[in-house]
Amino acid sequence: MPATSTEERDTIAVRPAVTADAHTLAALAIQVWLSTYATEGVNDLLARYVLGEFTPSKFVALTEDAAACLLVAEIDSHLVGYALVRFGVAQPLIPSAEAELCTLYVQEPFTGAGVGTALLREARASIRKRTGTDALWLSVNVKNRRACGFYEKHGLVEKGRTHFVLGEGRHENHVLALIP
Ligand SMILES: CC(C)(COP(=O)(O)OP(=O)(O)OC[C@H]1O[C@@H](n2cnc3c(N)ncnc32)[C@H](O)[C@@H]1OP(=O)(O)O)[C@@H](O)C(=O)NCCC(=O)NCCS
Repeated sequence: MPATSTEERDTIAVRPAVTADAHTLAALAIQVWLSTYATEGVNDLLARYVLGEFTPSKFVALTEDAAACLLVAEIDSHLVGYALVRFGVAQPLIPSAEAELCTLYVQEPFTGAGVGTALLREARASIRKRTGTDALWLSVNVKNRRACGFYEKHGLVEKGRTHFVLGEGRHENHVLALIP
């Protein structure tokens, strides 16, 4: 059931991912990625991308990666979203930011209920703890109006553009930053 009531919002718990989350994260990531980007249906390129990118073994490796912070959001013992921060990832447009928010995914029925905000809050706390600043950067597809609006609401500002390349396709992304 969608988590839209105040009572349900109170049950959102964010915690670091553990190895046992890996299969759940892989399934969740594929579902969110396809529902966000496979707007014209699934083809071989997209299928190969998600099945190669979002694997349980890659999520296990992320839980063990000292240069990454993988957070999950749970409601009633089910994962409904996750965030991935990587440290030490340079972005020439924002040289003062050492941390990239690589991924922020919320399962569609739980969007609009505060899960993304809770994950972003904990991601920012992890960045502050690790780097001593709030500075972070991320890239987001220019067509992803909901995510762009969400990040704007949370104070991120555009610093430039980049492209996500998949097969023959070049997908324009905003490069956004939060600079304290
Ligand atoms: C973008 C995303 C992470 C937001 O997470 P969420 O759990 O829905 O976000 P929250 O419920 O915490 O907050 C939503 C807020 O964003 C605002 N928002 C949503 N769409 C918006 C838009 N188009 N313009 C402005 N604000 C918008 C809402 O008004 C809401 O604010 P409110 O709490 O004051 O009402 C989520 O929608 C998601 O995972 N989408 C699919 C994957 C994706 O696009 N990820 C980002 C890729 S970079």
